[in-house]
Amino acid sequence: MRKTIAILLFLTALPAFSQNTKGGDDAKGIFKYENFQKPDECGSSCHTDFYAQWKQMMMSKCYTHEWDEIEYFKLAVPHAEKEPKVAGVKAGCNGCHAPVSFMVGDVPPPKPEANSRANESVGCDVCHTVTGFVGDTPFNFNFISNPGTTKYGNRGGTQSPAHETKKLPFLSKAEFCGTCHNEKSPFGAWVKATHLEWKEGPYSKEGVQCQNCHMPRTPGISSAMGEQRQDIAQHLFHGAHDPGKVRGTVELRIHTDSPDIAPGEQAKFTVVLFNQKTGHKFPTGSAEERMLWLHVEAVDAKGKIYHLSVDKKGFQGEDYTIASNVLAYQDMGVPLSKPDFKGIQRDGIPEGDRIFRMPYLDSQGRMTIQQWNTASFGPDYRIGPRETKTETFTWLVPDDVEIGTMTVNAVLNYQKLPTPVAEFLGVPKEEAEIMEVNSHKTIIEIVDD
Ligand code: HEC
Ligand code: HEC
Ligand code: HEC
Ligand code: HEC
Repeated sequence: MRKTIAILLFLTALPAFSQNTKGGDDAKGIFKYENFQKPDECGSSCHTDFYAQWKQMMMSKCYTHEWDEIEYFKLAVPHAEKEPKVAGVKAGCNGCHAPVSFMVGDVPPPKPEANSRANESVGCDVCHTVTGFVGDTPFNFNFISNPGTTKYGNRGGTQSPAHETKKLPFLSKAEFCGTCHNEKSPFGAWVKATHLEWKEGPYSKEGVQCQNCHMPRTPGISSAMGEQRQDIAQHLFHGAHDPGKVRGTVELRIHTDSPDIAPGEQAKFTVVLFNQKTGHKFPTGSAEERMLWLHVEAVDAKGKIYHLSVDKKGFQGEDYTIASNVLAYQDMGVPLSKPDFKGIQRDGIPEGDRIFRMPYLDSQGRMTIQQWNTASFGPDYRIGPRETKTETFTWLVPDDVEIGTMTVNAVLNYQKLPTPVAEFLGVPKEEAEIMEVNSHKTIIEIVDD
């Protein structure tokens, strides 16, 4: 009898729920769907405004968005089934793209058309139940989730009839975002390093977090029952899918030291590019598929257009950064069951343009867009936060050029996915839409000798 009482006392002293301490691969299948609330429960009557914002951002679509569906089901899943080295991605992609399904062990989840809970993608209850992360570097979904009646946020003491709220400073820090925005491939390559790039750059030293730029504060209310505040964290999360966010990221100037020049002489133009807007490199994140390139054209007095090629600097691996018509992405042949696959055009843009990129290379040294199949990298020629790059263009002015004013245009273009890849895989056109980041022009006078 005494023993029973002792055991009972011991049991009641235990907390009602044991705290979860698992994250990353170890968190696969540790929860049930019922443990997580659906985003529309949060949004239907209380957080109507945040729900509307969330609906528009990519993190509410990262399982259903067509390109994600194609890459996962057409490439990653078949690749994982054929190649033991990358077998883990069959479940692992979902750790970031459909975290609830991953933590429930529903992997691979049903396709988006089945309208399962995987379609929630990264919902409210994914982020607002995170209590920390495992280890000392955030990466590969190593966040620790503790779903339940307590929602963690950026302020304490708020009253909610629906749930408890608790202030958790971690949520307002870049490390929180890094749990999904840093990714290591099965070969140990950092195939996403947005948080690591930020940490090395100037903004981390000034205390500017991801949230400052991607969740700007504004007066308002955060829920129907909440009080009016001056600094409500907006859930915009704009990035590569928002031309307005991308526009103006880099400022550029083109100038010449030969303002008057005769046909047959050599002109030289210098383009200075300054990254004034990103807190990480540009491009960042899915850098294996982003295109950022500088195109320079001269237009003579009669409107004839001449395309200028960038001067080579001579660094190792530079050819990856100069547009050409070579073939690449041969490793797609494995998941697509095309053993002799020759590859497709690497760039799909005018030859000779400078590309600001870091090529992702497979274990045979071929360029890949399958970031999980990346074993190493070529040169990192992206533009760092507040970094300035200079490109020169030396051009032999043709003999038959029109005498008069010549305009020289420098345009920095951006594309989420190379056109040849989008066309080959049947990805909707808008994923390969070309956005203008910035442009600038200068004039020279073409004079008679
Ligand atoms: C990708 C992660 C993420 C998702 C998804 C997300 N939030 Fe948040 N939310 C945050 C972060 C981070 C903060 C704190 C921002 C800060 O400190 O600057 C926050 C803050 C909040 C706040 C407090 C705002 C304030 O300033 O008082 C509320 C309320 C909130 N979120 C509700 C929601 C709801 C409802 C949803 C779904 C419709 C949602 N969140 C989806 C990450 C997320
Ligand atoms: C649970 C994982 C997870 C967490 C935590 C997370 N993200 Fe994301 N985020 C994603 C995924 C997955 C995508 C890819 C969406 C897609 O498919 O294009 C994404 C996309 C984005 C984008 C790109 C939008 C675009 O237009 O392309 C931004 C910006 C972003 N996240 C910012 C943040 C910030 C800031 C935080 C921290 C407050 C954060 N994320 C936390 C998983 C996460
Ligand atoms: C100083 C402001 C600033 C800070 C700080 C910042 N970003 Fe960004 N971010 C931008 C701008 C501007 C863009 C749009 C240009 C681009 O796509 O890189 C962007 C783009 C992105 C994208 C889309 C990239 C792509 O190609 O899909 C993601 C994801 C992202 N940021 C996540 C983060 C995360 C995570 C952090 C913190 C570790 C962070 N950002 C910190 C300004 C910032
Ligand atoms: C560690 C978290 C993580 C893992 C694991 C992960 N992703 Fe992502 N994924 C992201 C984030 C974050 C982004 C957005 C990056 C950005 O916009 O810069 C993204 C972007 C993407 C995009 C690009 C969407 C676009 O906007 O162009 C595709 C497609 C994608 N992931 C598919 C996959 C597949 C397939 C896997 C598994 C092989 C996978 N992801 C594994 C976090 C992850």
